[in-house]
Amino acid sequence: MSERILVAYASRKGSTAGIAQAIGKELIAEGYAVDVSEMKSVSSLSGYNAIVIGAPVYTGKVTGDVVAFVTANKDGLSRLPVAGFVTGIAPVYPKTGQRERVH
Ligand SMILES: Cc1cc2nc3c(=O)[nH]c(=O)nc-3n(C[C@H](O)[C@H](O)[C@H](O)COP(=O)(O)O)c2cc1C
Repeated sequence: MSERILVAYASRKGSTAGIAQAIGKELIAEGYAVDVSEMKSVSSLSGYNAIVIGAPVYTGKVTGDVVAFVTANKDGLSRLPVAGFVTGIAPVYPKTGQRERVH
């Protein structure tokens, strides 16, 4: 049976969702079984061998869905390989051309 990977994303306007789908397609092409799901609809990490987390930055912070997802799935995430990506158009906030440190 092939390894199963979850690509869990948050997205308000669709860009991160599109990137998550593209990552999912690449992983499927590599032979993995892949689910691409909005992270707020994920109820369990059971059955997955690895997780990819993707989320956008809004007003200097990664969307709060990530905090909720990581908090709710802390045990599962601590046992699995996890990769992450963030989408954004920095430096757009607080002022175009200005850089800031984003945690
Ligand atoms: C109101 C607003 C605030 C944003 N703030 C930031 C920001 O602080 N840093 C950044 O890099 N991108 C910022 N962006 C750009 C978004 O992160 C970017 O468009 C992202 O790809 C949106 O993802 P989504 O379409 O999945 O929601 C902001 C966009 C909007 C509309």
